[in-house]
Formats: sequence, structure tokens, C-alpha cells
Amino acid sequence: MISEKIAQLLNDQITKEQYAAQYYLSMSAWFFAQDLDGIANYFRVQSKEELMHADKMFNYLNDVGGEIIMGEISKPPHQFASHTEVFEKALEHEKTVTRSIFNIVKNANEEGDFATVSFLQWFINEQVEEEASASQLVTKIKMVHGNPSALYLFDQELGQRVFVADPVK
Ligand SMILES: [Fe+2]
Ligand SMILES: [Fe+2]
Repeated sequence: MISEKIAQLLNDQITKEQYAAQYYLSMSAWFFAQDLDGIANYFRVQSKEELMHADKMFNYLNDVGGEIIMGEISKPPHQFASHTEVFEKALEHEKTVTRSIFNIVKNANEEGDFATVSFLQWFINEQVEEEASASQLVTKIKMVHGNPSALYLFDQELGQRVFVADPVK
């Protein structure tokens, strides 16, 4: 039901989502090391969401009879120049993921694989959300710049985030 090409693209996307999870966990660790546990929490939740994205794709590939082949997850950066840089990298990374998903949709459309196009609709909407919140956090962390009490409040705010598991399918 699914072509080898689209299955390959989805397998690659699973690895990309897992890499994103690894990357966000690395960002989380960097903030934990500075006792900014709230911001660290935010990135840890973000990491779990990325694993959930990978899971959704894994299930879909299985449902449509595609061969699932786990890829290699490379080592993410673990050092960052500033608080702002981390948020900028997160935004940049989400934009890369968006382009990658658009590319799968484009290919699926060309093949007339409307099941995959439909499946990826959720991810297109999710990426709009992801980019919007990442972009907002870049703005906020820039406002905080050099102000310890603002950073304290920002850390408190991000500490509120809780991971909510979606029904995986
Ligand atoms: Fe994702
Ligand atoms: Fe994401």
C-alpha cells in the first residue's frame, strides 16, 4: 500500500523526531546544570513530545505495511553559548523539521498517496504550533536578557509545563 520511497522518507522522519528528542534532552540537561529546573523541565517535556511523534509515525508505517527500519541517532550538541542561543537553536530545528515534513507531503501528493497526505496533516498543524511557541520563547528570553528576576520568573513559568500524552494513533 505504501511505496518504498515514502516508507523510506517516513523511516527517516522517525529518526529525525528521535534526534529532536535527543537534542531537546541535551538542552534540558544544559539548563538543569545551571539550576534552571523550570526551563529544563520545558525541554524535557518537549523531548517526550518528539518521541510521541516518532511513535505515531512508527504505528502508521506498520498500519500501511511499510517496512520499519530504525535509523542511527546522531549525538546532539551539548554546549551552548547563551540562554538565548538555545531557544534560537530550538526554533531553527523546528523549521528544519517542518521543511522535512512538507517534503514528505509533497512526495506523497505526487504519488497520489493520499493516506500519507492525510496522516501528515496532523504533523503540519503541529509544526505550526511548534514554530509559534518556539518563536514566542525566543522573544521572551530576549526580554529576560541580563535580568535575574525576569529569568527567575521565566524559569517558574516554564516549570509549569506538563507532558500530556496524546492517544498515540
Ligand atoms: Fe516533532
Ligand atoms: Fe518539534
